[in-house]
Amino acid sequence: MGFNVAARGGVAVVLLFLIAITGAEDPYRFFNWNVTYGDIYPLGVRQRGILINGQFPGPDIHSVTNDNLIINVFNSLDEPFLLSWNGVQNRKNSFEDGVEGTTCPIPKGKNFTYILQVKDQIGSFYYFPSLAFHKAAGGFGGIRILSRPRIPVPFPDPAGDYTVLIGDWYKSNHTTLKTHLDRGKKLPFPDGILINGRGTKGGASFNVEQGKTYRLRISNVGLQHSLNFRIQNHKMKLVEVEGTHTLQTTYSSLDVHVGQSYSVLVTADQSPRDYYIVVSTRFTSKVLTTTGVLHYSNSAGSVTGPIPGGPTIQVDWSLNQARSIRTNLTASGPRPNPQGSYHYGLVNTTRTIILQSSAGQVNGKQRYAINSVSYVAPDTPLKLADYFNISGVFRPGSISNKPTGGGIYLDTSVMQADYRAFVEIVFLNKENIIQSYHLDGYSFFVVGMDGGEWTPASRNSYNLRDAVSRCTTQVYPYSWTAIYVALDNVGMWNLRSEFWARQYLGQQFYLRVYTTSNSIRDEYPIPKNTRLCGRANGRHTRPL
Ligand SMILES: *[C@@H]1O[C@H](CO)[C@@H](O)[C@H](O)[C@H]1NC(C)=O
Ligand SMILES: *[C@@H]1O[C@H](CO)[C@@H](O)[C@H](O)[C@H]1NC(C)=O
Ligand SMILES: *[C@@H]1O[C@H](CO)[C@@H](O)[C@H](O)[C@H]1NC(C)=O
Ligand SMILES: *[C@@H]1O[C@H](CO)[C@@H](O)[C@H](O)[C@H]1NC(C)=O
Ligand SMILES: *[C@@H]1O[C@H](CO)[C@@H](O)[C@H](O)[C@H]1NC(C)=O
Ligand SMILES: *[C@@H]1O[C@H](CO)[C@@H](O)[C@H](O)[C@H]1NC(C)=O
Repeated sequence: MGFNVAARGGVAVVLLFLIAITGAEDPYRFFNWNVTYGDIYPLGVRQRGILINGQFPGPDIHSVTNDNLIINVFNSLDEPFLLSWNGVQNRKNSFEDGVEGTTCPIPKGKNFTYILQVKDQIGSFYYFPSLAFHKAAGGFGGIRILSRPRIPVPFPDPAGDYTVLIGDWYKSNHTTLKTHLDRGKKLPFPDGILINGRGTKGGASFNVEQGKTYRLRISNVGLQHSLNFRIQNHKMKLVEVEGTHTLQTTYSSLDVHVGQSYSVLVTADQSPRDYYIVVSTRFTSKVLTTTGVLHYSNSAGSVTGPIPGGPTIQVDWSLNQARSIRTNLTASGPRPNPQGSYHYGLVNTTRTIILQSSAGQVNGKQRYAINSVSYVAPDTPLKLADYFNISGVFRPGSISNKPTGGGIYLDTSVMQADYRAFVEIVFLNKENIIQSYHLDGYSFFVVGMDGGEWTPASRNSYNLRDAVSRCTTQVYPYSWTAIYVALDNVGMWNLRSEFWARQYLGQQFYLRVYTTSNSIRDEYPIPKNTRLCGRANGRHTRPL
């Protein structure tokens, strides 16, 4: 099979090519998605939402470790569109990451076929639209990656497995919110909270049978607010966080920060009736609350009693809960060997990166920055500029390793890092907000978090034994969070705030994990169906 078949294009050829590099033994799953606008009424008023195959939220992706996912996305909106995959690592293949720094937008009326492999992954994640504040209109859905049949899972098969997408929501459409931000204003306070696309009226309902145990995969797909999740009279046993099986600790409520995903087991062990599922905002003076229902199949009646309260402004409660979330070292991950067989705490870090967020005005408009740089998108995806050697698009090193102390300025920030480096990243939050950071392409160990200043002595408090490995971490107000990450995935990877107005107004950059090797052992060749745009227009994904 040679490169000359490229001109014919099409999924079949893409497939043949993929088999050639990834091995045919891993199964393929095909998805055909039509992205349209449609009327939705989540808070009782009509809104223009973004639907996938007519659904809001979009359909779930069900997969098994190592599956190839072939997702053909038709953009039937009137503007460019992209989907991205929160937590799917796209190993050696950042071209498919679906953020504007890696992938050309799908023009209106066109389609693009993503080719992903959930290589060596398990767990609960979600997808979302990455451009133009589309996330405020929907277009998101759950992703679950199950363990392969013979890999032991540290709990019995649940009787049911539910996706629970929670998030803050606005009655305004996404174009209104985007225009607001484009004019240099801050995002206003949201109007409500949704559970699987529903507010309190006609809210989300989950059916259970008495005596059985269910898995709930809870993701915060909202724009800004940390949310507390709880179920009236029921406990939740935490079992998985973004691909890591955790110590199975029981909680009566759980904080889910924006961008994060958690799996809990809930046993229907109460008398048969309906119980409130409650989601409320954290760290806000005005508390927004939404309820859904846990419905027993033999229910004797509807929900009764007061809606159970949860924590509101307490930071220490949340910090203590975060510290209690740890890896079960004897449980397996995507492979049969114990998760504790990789002793990250014994590996010396090769570099320390300190990142500080800030907010301020540039040219009279609100902007957000990391180490003083507020990211602006270039005319060509960074990954394509890198691949085609197009100069003048970005400069590696255009963001500092450490806070500069200077004022906010605009730039296309790209940080260079060596393939196989083992890096400590310290996130500093000197603002009175709760921050949440996500790194594409990776899972990282959350080794420490605390209030006050981070100093080298803070390392003495790091958890070097059973920290949880995940892809999104919170940073509390006037606090720091430290992570360790093994840079074993070559590519151009987005590091961003999940606080969506901040991401949109510059609080992000790209980590260029680089090697001089041109081997497909380290990075796959550019996919043949890659859309080209900007200064990459007219280039060829294969030599002529
Ligand atoms: C668009 O969809 C068609 C099938 O309807 C497929 O053959 C084609 O490869 C897709 N285009 C891209 C760029 O993925
Ligand atoms: C997508 O849905 C729209 C609206 O229902 C329809 O007009 C269009 O033909 C659909 N496109 C595809 C590729 O299915
Ligand atoms: C950890 O995983 C092991 C192996 O599956 C399991 O037997 C044990 O109960 C788990 N321990 C905790 C505390 O979750
Ligand atoms: C979005 O909301 C604004 C303000 O309410 C309205 O003028 C506009 O028509 C809406 N756009 C769409 C496409 O619904
Ligand atoms: C880590 O660094 C220490 C001190 O420099 C050294 O003694 C140790 O051998 C190193 N460990 C590894 C695993 O490289
Ligand atoms: C880009 O430059 C590198 C290093 O000079 C070279 O190996 C590679 O082939 C070039 N890529 C393209 C697409 O021309």
